[in-house]
Amino acid sequence: MPASEPNAIDELTIREPDDWHLHVRDDDMMALIAHYSARQFARAIIMPNLVPPVTTVAAAEAYRDRILAIMPDGHRFTPLMTAYLTDEIDPDEVERGHGEGVFTACKLYPAGATTNSAFGVTDVRNMHGVLERMQKIGMPLLVHGEVASKDIDIFDREAVFLEKVLGPMRSDFPDLKIVLEHITTADSVAFVQSAGANTAATITPHHLRIDRNALFDGGMRPHAYCLPVAKRAHHRTALRQAAVSGDPKFFLGTDSAPHPRKDKESDCGCAGIFCAPAALESYALTFDEEGALDKLEGFASEFGPRFYGLPLNEGTITLKRDDFAVPDAITGKDLSVVPFHAGETLKWRAMDRAA
Ligand code: DOR
Ligand code: ZN
Repeated sequence: MPASEPNAIDELTIREPDDWHLHVRDDDMMALIAHYSARQFARAIIMPNLVPPVTTVAAAEAYRDRILAIMPDGHRFTPLMTAYLTDEIDPDEVERGHGEGVFTACKLYPAGATTNSAFGVTDVRNMHGVLERMQKIGMPLLVHGEVASKDIDIFDREAVFLEKVLGPMRSDFPDLKIVLEHITTADSVAFVQSAGANTAATITPHHLRIDRNALFDGGMRPHAYCLPVAKRAHHRTALRQAAVSGDPKFFLGTDSAPHPRKDKESDCGCAGIFCAPAALESYALTFDEEGALDKLEGFASEFGPRFYGLPLNEGTITLKRDDFAVPDAITGKDLSVVPFHAGETLKWRAMDRAA
């Protein structure tokens, strides 16, 4: 056990957390990585950007069954499924899925904005029918908040989205619950703070730690590349302040998004940071640095379920101030994935969840 400052907290037990934004993929990748999330989180919102995407109740049920089938014996992990919005999505199918407890939320990917978004929405005006229905039934909309236009500088795409798309949508559907996912800018923090109680945001562990310099630290760093891409340092500062503020509009969503190492270290490397193996540890490190460990439980375990209208988890998880070595890579038979914090030793370790 490393020596800690006098009066520092060395152990913290919090209500079991949930991950409100997660990619677990499918097949061999899912078998390799999904258990890292189940170790730390009781529930997770599962992103639907498979190929083809999850757009029907039947596809979501089948995907949920595949996730549960690869979980270790005795697991207590609940995948919360989402529907991928397309220009053609049927509002009746969305409502039926929500009513049957299959779809927890819908995900809006602007077409072309990110990984597997080719089937996404080409114009939000095509969405009015389904958004009206979601507003009526109280179903949350999860938003990838970037415009896809190549004319807009990649570092400005989130801010432009707020102005051109989210602002108008917020006024058109005032009662719709909207989660702006994986925010990366001070602009998004301000937008969410000034919007009403139906607007919230998730924040990833990596956007709390890296700024855009991490992408070019001595050379090009594909494992620091995700979308929305990390921005300038002052934006990261705003995210850290929001995360530790105790404001219930900001809560945990890892956006853990694994890609095979060869697809990241390539001519055209995929966007996505695989943060699941040390997610809670990474958040704890940040909250500790901010002198705000007492705010971690709200952010990780309370604000998300309250926004979604779901019960809080009953179990607990304990974090200890202890060395936690993150591996250089997670490797399966034909697959290797590099995690966030690869090769680092973190100063917090999460124990297994206790019922
Ligand atoms: O970096 C990202 N990776 N951002 C996304 O929005 C999608 C994700 C993925 O699926 O790989
Ligand atoms: Zn994502």
